[in-house]
Amino acid sequence: MNDIVVARALHVLAVVIWIGGMSMATTVALPAVRRGDLGKNRLQAFQAIEHRFVWQARTAVIVVGLTGAYMVWRLNLWDRFRSAAFWWMHAMVFLWLLFVFALFVAEPFILQRHFRDWAHLRPERAFAWLHRAHWALLALSIVTILGAVAGSYR
Ligand code: HEM
Repeated sequence: MNDIVVARALHVLAVVIWIGGMSMATTVALPAVRRGDLGKNRLQAFQAIEHRFVWQARTAVIVVGLTGAYMVWRLNLWDRFRSAAFWWMHAMVFLWLLFVFALFVAEPFILQRHFRDWAHLRPERAFAWLHRAHWALLALSIVTILGAVAGSYR
């Protein structure tokens, strides 16, 4: 087993934990929170799940970024970023940047402060927006994963 195999295995494992968890949050946890199945206080129910998962997601995002960058460097794949045929390489980096922003900037500085107030004032609207944002990120992640797996085995 060489270093590239290890990097690829860790890359995919971290993607599975991160995007799998987000899929669970989008399709199972958020609908239950919105319906009030986990208690009347939706913000508390949501945060009980989110507080635990956010650290897993942050760790996974760091592992994905480091292993991805390592593969690009070791395999000298920089040229791919100049070709539209490798759109899935751009998609991986774009999605990664989006999540770095979401998990390291938006979650602690926007969600923790402003969303809390919004969720108190208009819980229906606030959680509907949050759910839609999760669906959009999940859809982008699915397209990226399909493109990356298909593209790297062509
Ligand atoms: C900084 C961000 C990233 C970089 C630099 C990066 C880089 C790479 C590289 C170099 C490969 C190997 C391609 C090949 O063998 O031809 C790869 C594979 C892959 N990446 Fe990423 N990646 C990043 C983020 C992501 C993200 C965010 C996802 C998921 C949403 C992802 C999912 C995958 C998948 C599914 C594969 C294919 C693995 C396989 O089938 O062997 N990557 N990535």
